[in-house]
Amino acid sequence: MALFNILLAIHVLSVVWWIGGVFTVTASLLPLFNRLPADERIQWIQRFEGRFANQARIAVLLAGISGFWMYALLPGAITHTWWIGLMLLVWVLFAIMLFVAEPLRLPAKLGVIRNPRKFLALHAVLLALALAAIACGVIGARGGF
Ligand code: HEM
Repeated sequence: MALFNILLAIHVLSVVWWIGGVFTVTASLLPLFNRLPADERIQWIQRFEGRFANQARIAVLLAGISGFWMYALLPGAITHTWWIGLMLLVWVLFAIMLFVAEPLRLPAKLGVIRNPRKFLALHAVLLALALAAIACGVIGARGGF
């Protein structure tokens, strides 16, 4: 049980690091950057991304390793729940963004970054899903569903 508790602490701290960053970008930085002239706005987004992308990658890896490890330790009755499925969905979406779409520069190539409203909306949807996974995970882990 000590191992499970350590994994749970690592899992939650990784989620705080990563989703906390997504919250700050979505609720504070992007609305601020959206007031700048187009080229300056892109520069600031890329500057922030340069600092945060690797942190997010490490946090996503830690959350995934600890999550799958706990998954292996738990009985099927818990692992086959929809709220664990929701966590997995959020994790897969962010992993694709950070490890596939970003390195291939897909958001820039598809022009999503250039569109301030679309870019903010994309972040808001991902953030809402992540917050739902956190809320449902905390309630579900205590038998609330
Ligand atoms: C590979 C993906 C993931 C897997 C396999 C996974 C698996 C798990 C497991 C097995 C637990 C323990 C549940 C229990 O104690 O009964 C847990 C807890 C938790 N997970 Fe995940 N998770 C993943 C991703 C995520 C993501 C993306 C988030 C949030 C955005 C998240 C948020 C949480 C939270 C907040 C808890 C703590 C629940 C509590 O004890 O209060 N997880 N996760």
